[in-house]
Amino acid sequence: MSTILVTGGAGYIGSHAVLALKNAGYEVIVLDNLSNGHQEIVEQVLQVKLIVGDMSDRALLDSIFSTNNIAAVMHFAAYIAVGESVNEPAKYYRNNVVGTLTLLEAMLAASVNKFIFSSTCALYGVPQFIPLTEDHPQNPISPYATSKWMVERILSDFDTAYHLKSVSFRYFNAAGADPNGLLGEDHIPETHLIPLVLLTALGKSESIFIFGSDYPTPDGTCIRDYIHVNDLAQAHILGLQYLLDGGESEVFNLGNGNGFSVREVIETAKQVTGKDIPIIERDRRPGDPPILVGSSDKVRKKLVWHPQYPNLNEIITHAWQWHQQKHQ
Ligand SMILES: NC(=O)c1ccc[n+]([C@@H]2O[C@H](COP(=O)([O-])OP(=O)(O)OC[C@H]3O[C@@H](n4cnc5c(N)ncnc54)[C@H](O)[C@@H]3O)[C@@H](O)[C@H]2O)c1
Repeated sequence: MSTILVTGGAGYIGSHAVLALKNAGYEVIVLDNLSNGHQEIVEQVLQVKLIVGDMSDRALLDSIFSTNNIAAVMHFAAYIAVGESVNEPAKYYRNNVVGTLTLLEAMLAASVNKFIFSSTCALYGVPQFIPLTEDHPQNPISPYATSKWMVERILSDFDTAYHLKSVSFRYFNAAGADPNGLLGEDHIPETHLIPLVLLTALGKSESIFIFGSDYPTPDGTCIRDYIHVNDLAQAHILGLQYLLDGGESEVFNLGNGNGFSVREVIETAKQVTGKDIPIIERDRRPGDPPILVGSSDKVRKKLVWHPQYPNLNEIITHAWQWHQQKHQ
C-alpha cells in the first residue's frame, strides 16, 4: 500500500482528498500547520496521522521523508485569500512559493519525485476567450494567482533538471461537501459565495452582497464555474495513479464546464434551503471578470475523469446538509 503525504489535508479540499485517498486504499499522512485547518477533522473524522507543522520546516520535512516510505505528495497547503494577497504579498510569496520550494527540495533529497499541485484558474487573469483552455495566455492579476503561476514554472524547470513529475490542477470554484455529511467547507474568514449564501440562510449573516449587477451577462451578475469538491478529489486520485504509473508532467483545468451566475446561485440556494436570503447590491469589485468558465476536456480525455455532481442544485444541497449539521 503506497503512503501519500498530503500537505494542507486539514483544510477544505485537502480533507476531501484524504477521504478519497483512504477510500481508494492509500495510506495517508497529513502535514498541516492548522493556520486554517481543522485538527479534529483529520484525527477524529478521517482518522489518519496528522503531523502539526509547517511545510517550510526543512528539518521536519526531512524527518517525515526519512521515517516514512512516501510514494508521492499531494500539495494543498497555501494561503488562499486573493484580496489579502494584494495587501500582504510577502505573506503569500513566502508561504505559497518559498514554502513549496522547501517542500520540493526536501522531496528531491529523499528521492520522492511525484507531486500533485493545487493550482488555480486565476492564473489566466482576465479571459481573452471562454471557455478557458489550458493554452490560454497566463496573466495573473493578484499576488495569490502569481504565487501559483510561479510554482507551476518551478515545477516545469524541476522536471527538466531533476525529473520531478507533477500534475498541476487548475481549479475553478471548488464547492459543495461530502455527500455523506462527514466533511464540508469551513474557511475562516469565509470568502466563497456558496458558504456565504448558506450562512445567510442560516441567519448567521444578515444579507449577501452582490458585487456588480451590470455585467454583460444575462442577469447582470458574474458567472463562475463551480466544481463539486468530491469530483475534484476524484480527479486527484486519477492524477496520482497516472503519475504512479509513470505518466509525464501535465497541467489540467478542473471545472464543471458550466457557468452559474451569482443570482442563479442565490436562487438555487433559496429553493434548496426554503429560506429567504436577503441581498444587497454593491458596485463591481476591481479585477472581477464577468465570466470565468473552463474547459475540462483535457482531463476528461487524458485521465478519463467524469464529474459525478455537475448539477448546481446537488452541489448546494450537499453544502447545505453539512452547514445545517455544523450549526444545529
Ligand atoms: N477553494 C477553492 O475554490 C480553490 C480554487 C483554486 C485553488 N485552490 C487551492 O486549493 C488548495 C486548498 O484550498 P482550500 O480551499 O482547501 O484552502 P484551506 O485554507 O481550507 O486549506 C489549506 C490548508 O493548508 C494549511 N496550510 C497553509 N499554509 C501551510 C503551511 N505553511 N504549512 C502547513 N500547512 C499549511 C492550512 O492550515 C489549511 O488547512 C490551496 O492551495 C488553494 O490555493 C482552492
